[in-house]
Amino acid sequence: MELLVIPGDGIGAEVTHEACRVAEWFIAKGMDLTLVHRPFGLEVWNAEGRLVSDETMELVRKAPAILFGAIGGEEYHDIPLEIVREQGLLKIRRDLDLFANLRPVRYWEPLASVCPLTESTAMESDLLIVRELSGGLYYGEPRGISEGADGKRVGVNTMSYDEDRIRRIIKAAVNLAQQRSGQLMSVDKSNVLEVSQLWRSVAQEEARKHADVTLRHMLVDNCALQLVRNPRQFDTIVTENLFGDILSDCAGAISGSLGMLPSASLNIGEDGEPRQGLYEPVHGSAPDIAGQGIANPIGSILSLALALRYSFGLPLVATMIEEAVNAALLGGARTSDIDFGQGRLVSTSAMGDAILDALERLSQNYTMKTLFQ
Ligand code: IPM
Ligand code: MN
Repeated sequence: MELLVIPGDGIGAEVTHEACRVAEWFIAKGMDLTLVHRPFGLEVWNAEGRLVSDETMELVRKAPAILFGAIGGEEYHDIPLEIVREQGLLKIRRDLDLFANLRPVRYWEPLASVCPLTESTAMESDLLIVRELSGGLYYGEPRGISEGADGKRVGVNTMSYDEDRIRRIIKAAVNLAQQRSGQLMSVDKSNVLEVSQLWRSVAQEEARKHADVTLRHMLVDNCALQLVRNPRQFDTIVTENLFGDILSDCAGAISGSLGMLPSASLNIGEDGEPRQGLYEPVHGSAPDIAGQGIANPIGSILSLALALRYSFGLPLVATMIEEAVNAALLGGARTSDIDFGQGRLVSTSAMGDAILDALERLSQNYTMKTLFQ
């Protein structure tokens, strides 16, 4: 098994490094995985005048799973938007047809004091946002800024979804909901947008085929409120690209910090199995703290866990990593984004150490070999 590792820009390198240490810990224990590292982003731009080399793109196209760090930074203002669009992350998502973006969000009890929601509101929240990632406003045509007849500039983007694109993401979400509690919330803006009306009716058609899934609908503005008012009402949420982008940051409040959130972007085949997956923390490149060794690596480490769960069929290893993260937090390790003066403020690599220590302790309760079968 091979995992393509692309740290990318900003804090991407620091956090991905810690995720790789976790992977290497399991490899040393007998997990069959090879890590292949490739550069991407500003580093490549400065050396070669492009964001990604053809060889790396070739590897990206073939890789069953990619662990991605981040893309972004001040210097991107000087790079033409066409190049960013042609070579950046959005292009990879689209080329690989990674249409299903899974963003699990949960409450971490040890982080109760950093969670902006009251404990009684957020406690035990555990939800999965399934964001459509290959369509909608991000890619719709026509798009652009042009000059209207009156000489004034007009900006245009288009939100468009055909029913096949809606159906496949709903199918994926139905499938994921079945593996959870069977409660599926489809989020739209059908009181205003035709796209959402189509979305709603396709969701109903698909959900009707599955007696074990209960589909409900919610308007996106209300959903933003409900996520902070009463997040426990949600289990699996499915929604279009931009709504999912916004709601997943909003739901980040439940975890206390965006630094805690992992994501999986999957291309799911007809058989319901992921054909390719790109795994990345939700937080982005955070240029303001890059290179200081203070970023939270947990989003990246949990993204590695998702790769093991969804691409490599190792759910027990994934669960063990999640337990180790919880144990490290219980032990008091806190990077600055989750520090509230009650724990031990640690660097990126010391958080990695705390998680590795926790794995070492947990491994006494596991028969490691059985984890890899
Ligand atoms: C995300 C990010 C990206 C998005 C940006 C960096 C293009 O915000 O993954 O949520 O909007 O999809
Ligand atoms: Mn976002």
